Amino acid sequence: MEKIIIFDTTLRDGEQAPGASLNPQQKLEIALQLEKLGVDIIEAGFPVSSPGDFKAVADISKNIKKSAVCGLARCLKPDILAAHNALKAAKKPRIHLFLATSKIHLQYKFKKAEGEILELAKKATKLARGLCDDIEFSPEDATRSERSFLFRIIETAIKEGARTINIPDTVGYSYPQEVFSLITDIRENVPNINKAVIATHCHDDLGMAVANSVSAILAGARQAHCTINGIGERAGNASLEEIVMVIKTRKDIFKDLYTGINTRELFRTSRLVSSLTNYAVPANKAIVGKNAFAHESGIHQDAMLKNRLTYEIMDPHDVGISASQLVLGKHSGRHAFKVKLSALGYKLTDKQLDKAFTRFKLVADKKKEIFDDDLRYIVEDQISQANLLWKLESFYTHSGTKVAPEATVILTKKGNPVKGVSAGDGPIDACFKAIDKVVGLKAKLEDFRLEAVTSGKDAMGHANLKLVIKGAVYSGGGSSTDIIEASILAYLNAVNKYAI
Ligand code: KIV
Ligand code: ZN
Repeated sequence: MEKIIIFDTTLRDGEQAPGASLNPQQKLEIALQLEKLGVDIIEAGFPVSSPGDFKAVADISKNIKKSAVCGLARCLKPDILAAHNALKAAKKPRIHLFLATSKIHLQYKFKKAEGEILELAKKATKLARGLCDDIEFSPEDATRSERSFLFRIIETAIKEGARTINIPDTVGYSYPQEVFSLITDIRENVPNINKAVIATHCHDDLGMAVANSVSAILAGARQAHCTINGIGERAGNASLEEIVMVIKTRKDIFKDLYTGINTRELFRTSRLVSSLTNYAVPANKAIVGKNAFAHESGIHQDAMLKNRLTYEIMDPHDVGISASQLVLGKHSGRHAFKVKLSALGYKLTDKQLDKAFTRFKLVADKKKEIFDDDLRYIVEDQISQANLLWKLESFYTHSGTKVAPEATVILTKKGNPVKGVSAGDGPIDACFKAIDKVVGLKAKLEDFRLEAVTSGKDAMGHANLKLVIKGAVYSGGGSSTDIIEASILAYLNAVNKYAI
């Protein structure tokens, strides 16, 4: 059996999705879950890019025990030194160097000739290898690069000590047969290629990131770059859960291949990443979408009752999805609440548990039946709303067909209440404007979605939105049985990312 190494880049390329930015504490939380999931390498960030990214990579390096921790660097000395310093505490550090090799990048981005690029790659790999044993080299835009130059730069990087050669389809332009022949050509034409592991890194601009990744694997790549929920730059990266489940489910094709992923952690990891980045998972998303295992048509349901395999190619339990059951109500105690949360995989500190339990009781007072999904939102909200600068104290709105909508919102900053009053196009808009007045900012609402967490008239609502403040995008999420409150919490969640 041969292992496919899973290189997770949720915290680096995934975080490059507009508005998905995470603070160091949230990054650490995701990294710990990625380790639990069993990923081999966590690309924790791009240390030279900002003090926050440097801190995130350093914190993750200190706390991760089993997975390797990787920092990204351009082929520049300050980048390499920053990556090396950020990774100092890592048990298994890796520096990931990248340098574009396609004609279009050389001509317009660098204005450099091939010889100069080759020299840069050589020097950078040598420098990095002197600081760290484990070096990965990526010729950016490899799939649009001239083959002969690509072969030469790969050979140089390996000569200088790179152990992994990653082949990025940076702009998501390739299709599966092309990727297959590119990897085959690299294996046949780079003389020292057997000294390195070949990796694949595919973007989803044409919706083929996963297909291209598995095609690369069939051609001999043994490491896959991917992100949870497929989040990433533009249309995103290849989704980790899809690559892993393709390899597991299609044993007839991927005969001797396996990954070290504990697939039962997939759903939980997906939910955590979605709630901390505020990137909603589409209902029809493969593996982890709400409808991925839902059977609506009567014919399908009937056949499923006779034999599950008629319409289900995977067991939902294998990806960590359990049927939503009625679990708790307003009379449930703290112990039952704690036991249920640990069955759902949450390990909270006593303080977090107290806060989540208080919130649970408030929800249970308004909503008779509390389902697993309600509990997940209560806990995830509790985690993402903790330590906020601006908190919601109370709000009041009035609106109707013949009255102008108006809202009063009271926020607290370090315990001190501040009141804002505003009119608006509707009660939610009025609340948002009142918050803008309190915080003293001009925010543009770019995206706003509301969805019911579970079914029923008393279902909890979850709001997801994106704000543009001074040209930067901030996302936010919030849940409540009251959709106005859920919207306010989501707005505050995004505002707090700006205000910190
Ligand atoms: O898409 C890309 O080319 C990248 C590189 C940094 C590997 O993300
Ligand atoms: Zn990328």
